[in-house]
Amino acid sequence: MLKGKKILVGVSGGIAAYKICTLIRLLKKADADVRVLMTPSAVNFISPLTLSVLSGNDVHINFFSDVSETNTVINAETSHVYLALWADLFVIAPATLNTISKAVNGITDNLLLATLFSSRSPVIFVPAMDHDMLVHPVTQKNFESLLSLGYDLIQPEEGELASGLTGYGRMAEPDTIFNRILSKFETQTDLAGKKIIVTAGPTHEYIDRVRYISNPSSGKMGFELARAASVRGANVVLISGPVGLPDIQDVKRINVVSADEMLSKIQENLIGTDVVIMSAAVEDLKPVSPVKEKIKKDKLNDRFSIDFEKTVDILHYLGKHKEGFKLIGFAVETENTVDNARRKLETKNLDMIVLNNPNEKGAGFRTDTNIVTLITSSEELKLQIMSKYQVANAILDKLLLMR
Ligand code: CTP
Repeated sequence: MLKGKKILVGVSGGIAAYKICTLIRLLKKADADVRVLMTPSAVNFISPLTLSVLSGNDVHINFFSDVSETNTVINAETSHVYLALWADLFVIAPATLNTISKAVNGITDNLLLATLFSSRSPVIFVPAMDHDMLVHPVTQKNFESLLSLGYDLIQPEEGELASGLTGYGRMAEPDTIFNRILSKFETQTDLAGKKIIVTAGPTHEYIDRVRYISNPSSGKMGFELARAASVRGANVVLISGPVGLPDIQDVKRINVVSADEMLSKIQENLIGTDVVIMSAAVEDLKPVSPVKEKIKKDKLNDRFSIDFEKTVDILHYLGKHKEGFKLIGFAVETENTVDNARRKLETKNLDMIVLNNPNEKGAGFRTDTNIVTLITSSEELKLQIMSKYQVANAILDKLLLMR
């Protein structure tokens, strides 16, 4: 299943390190090429010799080789840069609080951490710790930082802990870690042949030449959706309002300003589309009579009013004209959240609605993380806090299950 895949396993110093033997056996049985890195304290919990025999490779612990054995101080093939670039995937298990805290603060005082900072591959952290350490606000903040840095995180499980206490903190079982590793490779092309339109960012509705009404959307969620769909093989058209985000490799990007322009670009690109995902925060209001030039202040009274009208509801329009494509909308709700989102699902004829509540910490505009509930006509799935890239993949996973 993992033939030819290069998996780097980083072990830090926790009692759960004993479970890594089973993980390495599973990886080897699946034909993966496995190398193991250990922090110096991890060797107190499990022998490097055991991990070396199981992985079939040397185990790397120190920055420097033993000079007397190799006659060189640094062996290029065991340097952090080499190991980082060698890996197709880096899994850090167990990831202690110490290692996680250093990882989010740029501390590289051992080979494992230095390798992490040189890494270009996906990285999965698998924390293990005592319950009270886990629920400490600093730990939770560091977990959020890991996610916002784009790392994957397998949340600890509930059960008996090495301390004798019971609670959350146990490292995920080797089977769970193995399945997550498999899914990283399996999802690569499951959207091949699909054309997906993703909208992103806010729209600007101009009042005069220099002033507009808008909202604080950063466009990050839509861009992560476009990136994830493209990585999974889809042909992606990203229609974006004004945002400060760079282009995405292999994604056709069309920049628009207003809601009207966004709708017309969607219409132009709709032929052959399999899915439209409206993650844009389309501005709801536009001035009835925008002024061409800049309105001079001396032409205005101290108090004045501007007439606004509603912009076109793009999602509603697409729901009414839905033929041959699936339609996914977003709902920002702060009260009666699920009921309101479900109402939008029905009235706008959607296949799925992604609900988020900006009042929840870690959700909403301008964050790197999100907390969403995926709602379809038959299901409601509340996801834990995760990076926007992970949310994007969760939405695409759900989409693939809907036939
Ligand atoms: N949307 C749209 N056109 C608009 C406004 C919103 O297509 N003029 C889409 C957004 O892209 C999003 C969904 O509608 O997918 C829901 O946006 P939201 O702001 O939550 O809801 P609204 O329908 O605007 O209703 P309300 O603001 O009353 O909640």
